[in-house]
Amino acid sequence: MKVLLLGSGGREYTFCHQLAKSPHQPQLFIAPGNAGTAQFGTNIEVSPTDFEGLKQAVLTHEIEMVIVGPEVPLVEGVVDFFAADQELAHIPVIGPSKQGAELEGSKEFAKAFMQRHNIPTAAFQSFTKDTLAEGLTYLETVTPPYVLKADGLAAGKGVVILNELAAAKAELTAMLADAKFGEASQKVVVEEFLDGIELSCFMLTDGKSYKILPMAKDYKRIGEGDTGLNTGGMGAVSPVPFADETFVQKIKSQVVAPTMQGLQQDGIPYVGFVFIGLIKVGENPKVIEYNVRMGDPETQVVLPRIQNDLFELLQATASGTLDSIKLTIDKLSVSTIVAVSGGYPESYEKGKAIRGIDPSDFVVHAGTAMVDEELVTSGGRVLSATGVGDDHNQAIAQSYQALSKIDFEGIYYRKDIGFDL
Ligand code: AMP
Ligand code: GLY
Repeated sequence: MKVLLLGSGGREYTFCHQLAKSPHQPQLFIAPGNAGTAQFGTNIEVSPTDFEGLKQAVLTHEIEMVIVGPEVPLVEGVVDFFAADQELAHIPVIGPSKQGAELEGSKEFAKAFMQRHNIPTAAFQSFTKDTLAEGLTYLETVTPPYVLKADGLAAGKGVVILNELAAAKAELTAMLADAKFGEASQKVVVEEFLDGIELSCFMLTDGKSYKILPMAKDYKRIGEGDTGLNTGGMGAVSPVPFADETFVQKIKSQVVAPTMQGLQQDGIPYVGFVFIGLIKVGENPKVIEYNVRMGDPETQVVLPRIQNDLFELLQATASGTLDSIKLTIDKLSVSTIVAVSGGYPESYEKGKAIRGIDPSDFVVHAGTAMVDEELVTSGGRVLSATGVGDDHNQAIAQSYQALSKIDFEGIYYRKDIGFDL
């Protein structure tokens, strides 16, 4: 079967790596992919948001299934585009409808969904330019820290947490009146601050039933000890030691099951992954956010723990037969540690030669490219090293061992992944 994967990061590399192991031997195409995905299939130079370009690629290569990696094409309606096109409508796409993707595309939509379906989350109010004055007054009633969230997609930068009232008022004004995040901050959600430890829960649904995938913990800050700017993610581990059986049971009954029921009750078509960002407050889970795709770098630690054939799992998802599959999760610990370009997440240089990748290590390509037969950096997050072991210490040691052999100008990675476990 010919499968097209949309995206170009470590997440998509990991999908390729796992799909390539399938005895069904799917033929992989990746749009646009990276230097690493080219080892598993054919990279196609089309942007995941160029729907007409995707259509041409799908028809040319006779693609039979599409897997969407990142959120932007989903929020822009790639699934609806396929469904509405006579030549494409029969091709299954793993990803939610545009309406389902609003769970990530609009914070206000997600909050209203959670409220409607009694899913635990932070108390909130939302404001627009017209209600800015009310927003400023509302901030005076909130206990700091102040959590301000641009409603729309803002490439991970739209959440601002501030301690001082004056700063929070200035930020709300900048977002609403000065369009700090463009269209994304036409609405702003002001949210109660939740104090606790974060984890990510993943579910896969065919629209009728669902499977809960392994939990993961992501390290988002650039600096050691979880300091400095937010990034796309500097490392991840799975399983999550503090997510014991009692807590996971609460996540299932209070969050996952009501999310699935809510989608059905609201008549929202949803086939694909749901990534639920959670915070453990005391002994209870609260939802910080929904994402409508797998996480990156969480995918790198979640997929290797699924013992099922990923291709069969996705086929069952596409054909609405997920309930016939028994999911088997490996007990092993998996870690991934991301090496980034110097300067990331602010400005950085590309095109630096990458040396020292040991083919016997599990090195995941993200921002890599082949230029004149040389492997070079082409993004902020360049690659990550995945480790597997009986416990996190073993897994993490393996990740660091692999990274210690790799070099490119300006290479940086956190030396403390797993420090808090
Ligand atoms: P997001 O872009 O929604 O993933 O938010 C970025 C980060 O902000 C999260 O990973 C949390 O660390 C933090 N955050 C978001 N909402 C809250 C909240 N209500 N309370 C505390 N921290 C939050
Ligand atoms: N690692 C966080 C994300 O994928 O959004």
